[in-house]
Amino acid sequence: MTTIPETFRAYVVDRAGDRFERGLRTLAPADLPDGEVDIRIAWSSVNYKDGLAATAEGKVARQYPLVLGIDLAGTVLRSAHPGFVPGAEVIAHGYDLGVSRHGGYAEYTRVPADWIVPLPSGLSARDAMVIGTAGFTAALSVAELEARGLEPAAGPVLVTGATGGVGTTAIAILAELGYEVWAATGKADERPWLESLGAVGFLTREELAAEGRPLESERWAGAVDSVGAATLPYILRTLRRGAAVAACGNASGPALTTTVFPFILRGAALLGIDSAYLPIAKRRRIWERLATDLRPRSLGERVTEVTLDTLEPALDGIRAGEARGRWIVRVGA
Ligand SMILES: NC(=O)c1ccc[n+]([C@@H]2O[C@H](COP(=O)([O-])OP(=O)(O)OC[C@H]3O[C@@H](n4cnc5c(N)ncnc54)[C@H](OP(=O)(O)O)[C@@H]3O)[C@@H](O)[C@H]2O)c1
Repeated sequence: MTTIPETFRAYVVDRAGDRFERGLRTLAPADLPDGEVDIRIAWSSVNYKDGLAATAEGKVARQYPLVLGIDLAGTVLRSAHPGFVPGAEVIAHGYDLGVSRHGGYAEYTRVPADWIVPLPSGLSARDAMVIGTAGFTAALSVAELEARGLEPAAGPVLVTGATGGVGTTAIAILAELGYEVWAATGKADERPWLESLGAVGFLTREELAAEGRPLESERWAGAVDSVGAATLPYILRTLRRGAAVAACGNASGPALTTTVFPFILRGAALLGIDSAYLPIAKRRRIWERLATDLRPRSLGERVTEVTLDTLEPALDGIRAGEARGRWIVRVGA
C-alpha cells in the first residue's frame, strides 16, 4: 500500500463543552494536517507528557480533537521531499506532535519532512521507541554535560527519577560510558534492577527532598534531573565546583527554590534541556549516537508493550509516578 487508507484507527482526546473525552476513533486522511511525508506508524511510546495530555487538567494538549503520542517510528508511504523515499524507516518526535498536531497513537500520520530523522542503522523501529522521547532526552542530557566538560574521571554523577524513562536510560548510557552512576529513587525495591543497568550507589527521595544549607559538601561531578522541584535544589547545593546539572523534567513539580550561591561561589551550571524543539541536525546526530556510543546498556529490558486498545492504564500510570522502565505502543508492527 502506498497511500493512507480511507479509514484508520487513532487514540484521540477531545473536548465537548465542559466534557473531556478520550478513546479510540476512526479517522480519514482528510483529518490529517499538511506535510510532505505520509508515514505508516509501527511503534510509539508512552511519555510523561502523553500522560498529562490524556487528562482534562494536564495543560499539554493545545488543540482538540488531538491524536496523542509525542513520538513515533514507522515507514514512509509517500514523500514529496527528496530526502525520504517510500519504504524508508523513520523516527519523528517532539515539535508539535501530540500537543498541537496529531501524534503517534494512530496507524497513519503526515509530518513535515524537516521534523523527520532517518532510523539509524543498528536500531530497529521498536528499539527507537523503547528509547523514545524519554531516552532521547537522557542522551541529549549526557551529551550536553559532556560538551561542558564532564568526563568519567571527574567523579560521581547523580540521576534522579531513576526508575523512569529518562532516569533508566540516563543510568544505562552513563554506565556504558564508564561513569560512576548514583541513582535517586523513591522505589527501594527496584535497586537490584537499577544496579543491573549500572548504578553503583543510591539515595532516597527523602534525602534529596530534605531542607539543606545554601551550599553543602561538594559531591557530584554532574547530574541528570528529571524530577525538578523535589530534587533540583539539593543537586545545586551539592554540585562540585564548576559542575553542571542537566535539568530536563518536572515529575515532582515545576517550582525551583534555590539561592544564587551555587552559581556565584562554585561556578555551578544549570543546563536546560528541551528535546521538543531541538534543531533537526542536532536531533539526527543524537540519534546516530544512540545507535553507537550512547547506546543504552540493556536496551529493551523492562519494556511493557501496549496497543491502541490497551494504552490507557499506561497513560494513567506514568502520570502517577508508577513507571518502571518504558511502555511502548505497538501500533501497526
Ligand atoms: N525536557 C524535555 O525535553 C523532556 C523530554 C522527556 C521528558 N521530560 C520530562 O522528564 C520527566 C520524566 O519523564 P519520564 O518519561 O522519565 O517520566 P517517568 O517515566 O514517569 O519517570 C519519572 C520518575 O520520576 C520519579 N518521580 C515521580 N514523581 C515523583 C515525585 N513526586 N517526587 C520525586 N520523584 C518522582 C519516579 O522515579 P523514582 O520512583 O525512581 O524516584 C518516576 O519514575 C517529566 O517531567 C517529563 O515531562 C522532559
